Amino acid sequence: MEKIVDTSDEWILSRTGISERRICADNEFSSDMAVNAAQKAIAMAGLTPADIDLILIGTVTPDYRVPSLACIVQKKMEMYNSAAMDIVAACAGFLNGLAVGNAFIKSGQFRKILIIGVEKLSSITDYKDRNTCVLFGDGAGAVVLEETADDRGILSTYLKSDGRFTELLWIPDGGTINPCQKIKGRDAEVYLKMNGSEVFKHAVRMMGEASLKALHSAGLTGKDVTWLIPHQANIRIIESTAKRVGISMDRVYLNIAMYGNTSSASVPMALDEANRAGRLKKNDIILMTAFGGGLTWASAVVRW
Ligand code: ACO
Repeated sequence: MEKIVDTSDEWILSRTGISERRICADNEFSSDMAVNAAQKAIAMAGLTPADIDLILIGTVTPDYRVPSLACIVQKKMEMYNSAAMDIVAACAGFLNGLAVGNAFIKSGQFRKILIIGVEKLSSITDYKDRNTCVLFGDGAGAVVLEETADDRGILSTYLKSDGRFTELLWIPDGGTINPCQKIKGRDAEVYLKMNGSEVFKHAVRMMGEASLKALHSAGLTGKDVTWLIPHQANIRIIESTAKRVGISMDRVYLNIAMYGNTSSASVPMALDEANRAGRLKKNDIILMTAFGGGLTWASAVVRW
């Protein structure tokens, strides 16, 4: 990073907690990472791709604008017994997917739902902009959701958005307002632009609020939480969220140093990493929370 923009490792680590990021090869795409994560989640659930009846993908970096990434993943994994759709909610994409999936399971319309959070943020990052490029990385995580007979599983979810803050975190060009082919006399702005300090202020407030609302709906408080698994955007945002909810930092799962901000992939990657490391025990209370462009914010409480 020091070689490509005017920054220092010390600045990045102290302001964000990030020291490494994973970046896809040029010939690796969101669908490749999504398939990789999906295969592992389906295997861990003891299922086969044919068992899945809905694919939900949280992403802002699909392979194409049309069709959805979920349809590309469906093709690559030959999951033809399923419906498939993308959910665009920036960093809250996975938790929005989890809430939608939970509602579908409860309604009985779908029975085995694959939920993926995946981003190739390197494809929309301006590596000349030190305000953003030091933060973002690529990755994917996935879960399979199904009905259970006991009282474990998703206890509550909370979703919220505020569309008044479009320009705090956005890609100005390439949509219907400024299609790239119509831009004359200037370069198209096709990379993520962010007002970091404003986003920071909202993130601190909203991740705390979403966490408290989801806990309240589940009839729980911060004291009941075994693990907080937050969106890994900035260690300082995570610390103030934990403080507001009353969770000590030794109960917060952190991997931000290794991956940076991977948007929709962040929460499921951390959940999967904690699980595969044997950190999550039966009946643990897991609080997940995320915040992103839109603005969007979301939380879920799970009895593991
Ligand atoms: N290296 C050195 N200096 C930098 C860098 C850098 N990489 N980036 C910014 N600076 C400078 C700024 O230019 C500014 O300089 P100035 O005062 O001369 O103008 C100074 O550092 C302070 O800038 P701030 O923006 O006030 O710094 P802040 O403490 O807020 O940290 C950061 C910046 C890390 C981006 C922080 O604001 C942040 O984490 N914001 C939230 C990001 C986030 O959570 N996004 C979530 C959604 S992402 C999504 O949805 C895809």
